[in-house]
Amino acid sequence: MQADDSSTKLDDSLAKLPGYRTAFANWDRRASVRSSPRRTLSDDTGDLFPADLVPVAKHALVAGIRPELFRRLLTQQLYRYLHFTSKLEFMVVNYVVLGISQGSIRVPIPDQMRFDALKIYCDEAYHGYFSVDLMRQVQERTGIAPRIDDEPYFLRRLAALKEKHDPAKAGFIDLLFTIVSETLITASLTEISKSREVSGAVVDTLHDHALDEGRHHAYFASYLTFLWASLDRTERTFSARLFPELIDVFLRPDVPSIGAELGGYGLKPDEVSQVLAETFSERTQADYNRATASKLLGYLQEIEAFDEPGARDEAQHRGLLRG
Ligand SMILES: [Fe+2]
Ligand SMILES: [Fe+2]
Repeated sequence: MQADDSSTKLDDSLAKLPGYRTAFANWDRRASVRSSPRRTLSDDTGDLFPADLVPVAKHALVAGIRPELFRRLLTQQLYRYLHFTSKLEFMVVNYVVLGISQGSIRVPIPDQMRFDALKIYCDEAYHGYFSVDLMRQVQERTGIAPRIDDEPYFLRRLAALKEKHDPAKAGFIDLLFTIVSETLITASLTEISKSREVSGAVVDTLHDHALDEGRHHAYFASYLTFLWASLDRTERTFSARLFPELIDVFLRPDVPSIGAELGGYGLKPDEVSQVLAETFSERTQADYNRATASKLLGYLQEIEAFDEPGARDEAQHRGLLRG
């Protein structure tokens, strides 16, 4: 990233960029935090999460459990999802967005882009808030206690990844992870919010989130080009090699905790192992990661990130690029 005294170099790199088109022109009218009502659980009897988006739910050994336990499994999946969302927004994305808006992340960007970061900050705070709100409503309605760790799996993995590198790089890794999450989250949200058999409050919450994230996606796709222009050779190589692992950190489910949960529904240990092995193979995960990250992988191709030494090998090794 540029230091303050390299303004000539900085102007040169900004001049070469395609420019910035804001996706937030109608933010005051369109953002969920400005225009959507609070989503409340009504007496509808829909599922609390789409069964077809819960990978283990399709396995015969799980599909055959008692309906009451199956509903419990979907409820836990909703809790896991909402908890993931609130922690992502509060503990990672909003720190980064604050750094962009306040200039502590010293990537030269247009003033409009810095201002738009404040809108994302408001959006994400609301997403974190409404996720907690919905989780509390579901718990009150169903009486089902969430089986979740205080720190979700992705956060533990992100912390472990940061520990492998120089502590001075921690903030930069969070910035790269935010670019990953903000350009991937739209794909998963859109899929979930299209589901029909699911409770209205859940669908509406996810729909609100997806609309906001469409704008965030456009923002961070553009931000990536500004960031890239500001990086020196070493930083580009470091980033390009790290993106594939960060994609996996964001997308890989908490398999150990899913296994522990299945044990609670009466599956024997060998049956749990069978379900997990047949549902979460490395091949399936790689295919899922590649499909869900396809837009980001395209942006990384455009900035020629995979031409950095070792980057293409890393992406191929993780199944994100074909050999
Ligand atoms: Fe969000
Ligand atoms: Fe976002």
